[in-house]
Amino acid sequence: MQRLVVLISGQGSNMLALAEAARRERWPAQWVAVLSDKSQAPGLAKARDLGLPTGVIEPLPGESRLAYDERLAQALEALAPDWILLAGFMRILGEPLIRRFTGRIINIHPSLLPAFPGLHTHRQALQAGATRHGATVHLVIPALDAGPILGQDSLSIAPGEDERSLAARVLALEHRLYPRIVGELLEGQLRPGDGPKQQGARDSTVGALT
Ligand code: GRF
Repeated sequence: MQRLVVLISGQGSNMLALAEAARRERWPAQWVAVLSDKSQAPGLAKARDLGLPTGVIEPLPGESRLAYDERLAQALEALAPDWILLAGFMRILGEPLIRRFTGRIINIHPSLLPAFPGLHTHRQALQAGATRHGATVHLVIPALDAGPILGQDSLSIAPGEDERSLAARVLALEHRLYPRIVGELLEGQLRPGDGPKQQGARDSTVGALT
């Protein structure tokens, strides 16, 4: 059984999508912990409702990013994860932590990377006049949102669509994409370094891949 740790900061809807897929598809995986940097993250209560082990590692007042990362890294090492799945974890992880878990940290980002890294991706896409948008699952490396792409899925931006509508549609797409890619990693059908895979759906594109 491969050991999964999921890191969240907010609603945890991607974490829920992963948990549902794990149960439905009988993933060869053990949910070791859902960890959050925010004790009030709504996703933590949802994880508890599912009976998943949870933990909180909140930044201490005045704590540096490096010091926080060190505490987080020690907690992660104690959990011995095969995979660390970032699912709306809203902290930038530093290089020392990432190097301790090289090739094992996966993230989902709400844009077709390399387009629109960072925050407010839906607003960025609309302001840029993009006609397609989507989500990317990628390996985490020290450069932000720049690790090798494991999979993407995309949709057409509707004429006049607003940020709220676009965000909701991309989030629904994330809920299919992230479990699919993690399932393939667990089954050994996809290995980090294989290069990107696209969703086979009608509305997919390979146009933004590099
Ligand atoms: C998702 O859009 C994810 O891609 C981004 O933050 C959002 C988290 O949503 N990094 P949730 O907490 O999974 O509902």
